[in-house]
Amino acid sequence: MKRDDLPPSVTPDPAWAELIATASAPYRSTSRWAYHWARGKLSRDPVFRGLLERGELGGARVLDIGCGQGLVATLLQACADQQRTGRWPAAWGAPPAATAYTGIELMQKDVDRAEAALSRLALMPRFLCADMCTAAFPACDLVVILDVLHYVDHGAQDGVLRRVRDALSPQGRLLLRVGDMADARGFAASQWVDRVVTWARGHRVPPTYGRPLAAWQQALQALGFSVRAVPQSQGTPFANVLLVADLRP
Ligand SMILES: C[S@@+](CC[C@H](N)C(=O)[O-])C[C@H]1O[C@@H](n2cnc3c(N)ncnc32)[C@H](O)[C@@H]1O
Repeated sequence: MKRDDLPPSVTPDPAWAELIATASAPYRSTSRWAYHWARGKLSRDPVFRGLLERGELGGARVLDIGCGQGLVATLLQACADQQRTGRWPAAWGAPPAATAYTGIELMQKDVDRAEAALSRLALMPRFLCADMCTAAFPACDLVVILDVLHYVDHGAQDGVLRRVRDALSPQGRLLLRVGDMADARGFAASQWVDRVVTWARGHRVPPTYGRPLAAWQQALQALGFSVRAVPQSQGTPFANVLLVADLRP
């Protein structure tokens, strides 16, 4: 290959800026609100870039529980596009390799927004309006649950986690973001923001159910996951933790 034919080397900051722009763009033509929400959330919430930097979004068949307006789906598509054109930063982990995506979301308005904006993506994401406590989960390799489980009580949380384990392939992975109740101040701050956002989105503000980090880890280990905790709150007043939970055959 001649020097001029090589793809330009890509550094992480411009690559991330491009991913935010590409992933938000599909919402622009359907809802200004959804577009600005997508841009704001991808820019300010460290979880999304962190998942890509650490190469944690691997898995062909992705199930996103409590998917909201489908940010993970559009991000997966943007990653595939960026990788195809040789603009994936060498400093990051392996790019995601999703071939199928199912999002489950309780709120019909979010499902409508997701479908309106994202149904024409090459990934062909599927969005189901359903309650995670009763919905059938499709067979999958990667499950993403970001800031969702605390909306249901502990018994229902355990039921969802058990059905997630049963739906995952033998080497499947669960990415679960939760609040660590052992950090009382940080947990209260995240719950307060969560309530304000839920209210601002026009939803009823429900009671929430947390656990200390050690109890989340125990619950996952009891189901056969090996668990790694990735702190998510550096530089913020919150107590969020990402649990990377892997099944081992
Ligand atoms: C804080 S938002 C997070 C959205 C998305 N995971 C993200 O990170 O952008 C929580 C989402 O979970 C959904 N949710 C709450 N309870 C649910 C349930 N029982 N079944 C399915 N989705 C639920 C809410 O409607 C909301 O869209």
